[in-house]
Amino acid sequence: MKSHHDLLSTAKDAAEIGGKIILNGFRGLKKSQVRIKGSGDWVTDLDHRSEAAIIRRIRKSFPDHSIQAEESGIGEGHSDVRWFIDPLDGTTNYVHGIPVFSVSIAAAVDGETVAGVVLDPVHDEMFWSVKGGGAFRNRSRIRVSDKKSLSECFFSSGFPWRSKRYLRPYLDSFEEIFDASAGIRRMGSAAIDLAYTACGRYDGFWEMKLKPWDVAAGVLIVREAGGIVSDFRGGQNFMETGNLVAANRAVYPQMLRIVKKHLKGVE
Ligand code: IPD
Ligand code: CA
Ligand code: CA
Repeated sequence: MKSHHDLLSTAKDAAEIGGKIILNGFRGLKKSQVRIKGSGDWVTDLDHRSEAAIIRRIRKSFPDHSIQAEESGIGEGHSDVRWFIDPLDGTTNYVHGIPVFSVSIAAAVDGETVAGVVLDPVHDEMFWSVKGGGAFRNRSRIRVSDKKSLSECFFSSGFPWRSKRYLRPYLDSFEEIFDASAGIRRMGSAAIDLAYTACGRYDGFWEMKLKPWDVAAGVLIVREAGGIVSDFRGGQNFMETGNLVAANRAVYPQMLRIVKKHLKGVE
């Protein structure tokens, strides 16, 4: 068994490789390179190229690991290690020329994420953690914010485009948090939302119906930065449900109370 640091170092290498591919492809992106997967859901040739290169890099070090990647699905291996790969988080921004997107890569051992990397190639910021080792942006240690009351907090969220039937309760949660706080942004990359929560730019983040590859790396980074993460009921089923609240220790219970009130029925 390789150490968690070996997993991290491969994740970092793979993220750099993917990040270069999507950054190089960004300015010259052609219409012929973009396709629609579903309503409000785009994919580009660059998502695929980034993913293929990331998988090649991981397979080079760990040929027998399982890999769950957004565009190519699950490749089961003969190991207790599973990788979660989002080769381009923020494709909607990407296809509209908005320079906010990332690569997200995590490695889990026996179901527990032990290494995670979120790379924003536009700003050259790599957020990373290994379990028990703290959280970092490039070479600097990061911490969640120290805000205590909602009125001074700045949040991020995502709209429920995958399940519009939950729009009403989502908007109720939005209204209550908006009213109580100092502001809300919608970034368009859940991995960046989590990374920014980890380094205190945001005081908290909530979104529903995310996918495991959107959140696996970012959740570890938030936790290693001293934050709390749960699903909408306060449990740990966010990898299955995709429903997630993340914040610093003081703010988390206040956010969870509001999110639970409006969104506890979201399956
Ligand atoms: C999306 C982004 C976005 C979130 C969506 C995700 P993608 O990932 O993380 O912020 O709101 O739910 O699907 O499709 O760009 O990899
Ligand atoms: Ca994603
Ligand atoms: Ca993606």
